[in-house]
Amino acid sequence: MERFVRGLPKSELHIHIEGTLEARMMFDLARRNGVALPYGSIDEVEAAYAFTDLQSFLDIYYEAAAVLRTEADFADLMSAYLARAVADGVRHADIFFDPQTHTERGIDMGTVIRGFVSAQRDAAPDITSTLILCFLRHLPAEAAVEALEAARPYLEHVQGVGLDSGEKGNPPELFAEPYRMAVAAGLIPVAHAGEEGPAGYIRSALDVLGARRIDHGVRAGDDPELVDRLVRERVPLTICPLSNQRLQVFPDLRMHPLKRFMDAGVLVTVNSDDPAYFGGYVGDNYLAIADALGLTRTDMVRLARNSIEATFLPDDRKATLQDEITAYVASYPASP
Ligand code: ADE
Ligand code: ZN
Repeated sequence: MERFVRGLPKSELHIHIEGTLEARMMFDLARRNGVALPYGSIDEVEAAYAFTDLQSFLDIYYEAAAVLRTEADFADLMSAYLARAVADGVRHADIFFDPQTHTERGIDMGTVIRGFVSAQRDAAPDITSTLILCFLRHLPAEAAVEALEAARPYLEHVQGVGLDSGEKGNPPELFAEPYRMAVAAGLIPVAHAGEEGPAGYIRSALDVLGARRIDHGVRAGDDPELVDRLVRERVPLTICPLSNQRLQVFPDLRMHPLKRFMDAGVLVTVNSDDPAYFGGYVGDNYLAIADALGLTRTDMVRLARNSIEATFLPDDRKATLQDEITAYVASYPASP
């Protein structure tokens, strides 16, 4: 199964580039940039990654991002992720970034985006990728508008707009205006909803923000009518099993609703969220959820096909990638 999953062509649709900052790179960049870290060793860093909920993770994740300062740092971060993704069979990735985390520290928006784009260009055509600019929902909507304005000169490099950070108490409807502006600027709207927050946040992400994909969305399981709607409207969910486990959303992966969603006909995909913090990249996420829920090779293929369908790629590229999956599966002996 492991070899099959790693080679299976797929896309990754829920990955925060800042969440790919491995402890090793954190130390290297801290030294390169003269940034003090609150950890003395990699062991100490890993000991700190015992998360009790989303906020306990975010506190550490935002602090670590302070080591990223120059265009070369952002390029190195992106290159390292794309190389790991290629090794996991990822052919296309839609990549979140949190510009406010950097601009609030005085880093120029152009430094951030130029660094990412140079690494994305270098990695193509082995892997194609797009950027999704995320608004931080723990900050006010006015700050989101400022982030969009700062990014305006670079929007040719940005495909989508997203919403992340602490969910509880920060419902999607607070961001109606920055989303309206982002969509008017040509960005495709997606949003984190129903990770720790209630199913109602998924509804408002769809109805108020016009989200075309829901990131996480696992709380949809609390609302059968909403699940019916996701099926009917073919709204993809970008699910991140190891994240859900490590942030105590589903501490026991055997309780995870992914298989129930698949059986109901929801367009679910498997992704890694913040792999440097949650113990695995996208292939590890496929394997962990397969192990917990007894998924078969056929299920793995369904998830990979869903991951292509749920991209915003043109139809001809989607068809090419689906054909790659067909050829890959045909090259394997029958499922056990
Ligand atoms: N930012 C990075 N990872 C996140 C997650 N899982 N939920 C919300 N915001 C995030
Ligand atoms: Zn996320």
